[in-house]
Amino acid sequence: MRRNGHRESSFKETIQQASKNNFSRIILALDLDGSTPSQLLRTGRQLFEKTAPYICAVKFGRQTVLNLGTDRTRILIKYIHANDLPCIIDDKLNDIDETNKAIAQAYFGLGFDGIIVNPFVGWKGGLKSVFKLAHETGKGVIVLVYMSHPGASEGYGQLVFNGHNKRPRPQFEVFAEKAGLWKADGAVVGATRPDIVKKVRSKLRDGIQIYSPGIGVQGGKIRGASKAGTDFFIMGRSITKSSDPEKVAHNYARQSMNEMS
Ligand code: XMP
Repeated sequence: MRRNGHRESSFKETIQQASKNNFSRIILALDLDGSTPSQLLRTGRQLFEKTAPYICAVKFGRQTVLNLGTDRTRILIKYIHANDLPCIIDDKLNDIDETNKAIAQAYFGLGFDGIIVNPFVGWKGGLKSVFKLAHETGKGVIVLVYMSHPGASEGYGQLVFNGHNKRPRPQFEVFAEKAGLWKADGAVVGATRPDIVKKVRSKLRDGIQIYSPGIGVQGGKIRGASKAGTDFFIMGRSITKSSDPEKVAHNYARQSMNEMS
């Protein structure tokens, strides 16, 4: 990522630096809908301006890009980059290699620094092309390991026979191991399941950080997730729908650092 003419740095370096600078482990989830593209751009900009000193990155939902359109998405990303914060696209990418690569290339072309992908699609003919592209260009790839919603147990929690193992294992354990093999930059585990965060941490290769959505509206708590091993907290509605996003983001930022183990 180019910052005021400085050298390009990798996604991981950038988010870690932003976290140190702003004393925060909060990632703002910017999910914009329900209005015209120009109004949504204004809303997105205002939310970002209010919360920028208290966050370490911004995660765009796919709907945000669809509703803003690519030109306005580019403008918003540029604005966020000018504040030295990285942008993640939450696409949960999940197709065959050619398609995945084309989608990732388009997002990176808009300025995104990292992308969330779905490991169910596998490596060969699936995500290999995305990891290759991302790592050649300093971008980050974050792998879903266990999602935050109740129904996530149907897939990420199911027992599977994998490799030469005679006994079935939970799907998420296999994904945590794949995140290491694939040299992922991060793993998503919902803060709604701190016990799973802990298990994933024990299976994940060192240096792969855990990103946890699900704080606040979905019921997760910063304290429990942090103790279990979460590195970054993805937070949307608790901040964006509050009457005072600045104050709420500030409070969560402080809490995220105070609870650091
Ligand atoms: P809220 O409003 O619940 O928003 O704080 C959470 C944000 O994160 C997304 N989300 C997830 N993204 N894996 C992901 O990659 C997940 O398990 C997950 N759960 C929620 C959600 O779309 C929203 O943007």
